[in-house]
Amino acid sequence: MRIVLLGAPGSGKGTQSQILVKTYGVPQISTGDLLRQAVAAGTPLGLRAKEAMDAGRLVDDATVLDMIGERLCQADAAFGFILDGFPRNTAQADALGSMLKKLGRPLEAVVLLNLDLGVLFRRLTGRRICEGCGAVFNIYTAPPDPEAHLAKTGHLPQLIQRPDDKEEVIGKRLEVFDAQTKPLIDYYKGAGLLQVVDADADVDTVFHAIQRAVPPRVC
Ligand code: AP5
Repeated sequence: MRIVLLGAPGSGKGTQSQILVKTYGVPQISTGDLLRQAVAAGTPLGLRAKEAMDAGRLVDDATVLDMIGERLCQADAAFGFILDGFPRNTAQADALGSMLKKLGRPLEAVVLLNLDLGVLFRRLTGRRICEGCGAVFNIYTAPPDPEAHLAKTGHLPQLIQRPDDKEEVIGKRLEVFDAQTKPLIDYYKGAGLLQVVDADADVDTVFHAIQRAVPPRVC
């Protein structure tokens, strides 16, 4: 399986990637997660990325492409990957195409998770993350069960909000998606790779729609 999950902030890319990882045993490659790890570790790359991320802008292409080039060459990506949050613009999509051509591993599908603005906004403002283990919850759609969490992880949920999930930053992220990432819909439609999935449904329903949308040779 070599796929891209394309979609606006909050459309469910991370949630669905986790299920795909468990089901198909291929790694999730999330540029957002890689960047957040670099920020938390205080690396030079993280320090460069932080300002753009906190403001809801894209991190510069050179930084992201270096990071993704390195990640795609790691052994666990040899038999497939789920790209989550990458590419984000046509320059990144062109660069990805060249990288994968060199590696002899072309993309098999690009799945667009389609969702209305109002639902996106609610999912983003409601998202909370457990500081202890990184588990993702939503105060509206998927609140944590403290006892079940304690039994599973050994700690109670310690919920925090991502800095870019504040209302004032969400607006900017959605604007950036419209201006820079939406053109990838036509880009990949033209390449014959695009599959559109209605993401306005519960998590399992969306997952089954992805399974149906992705050609059988991929799964
Ligand atoms: P990134 O981390 O990639 O964020 P994003 O694309 O904005 O996506 P999100 O992580 O916000 O949402 P998601 O689609 O994964 O939704 P989730 O599954 O969590 O990027 C962050 C920043 O890093 C960017 O702004 C940029 O600065 C930088 N960056 C990253 N990649 C870059 C790149 N390639 N180039 C340049 N800069 C880059 O779900 C959201 C919520 O909804 C959760 O609470 C979840 O529980 C809930 N939920 C999910 N599915 C459902 C469902 N079906 N029903 C009900 N609730 C649901």
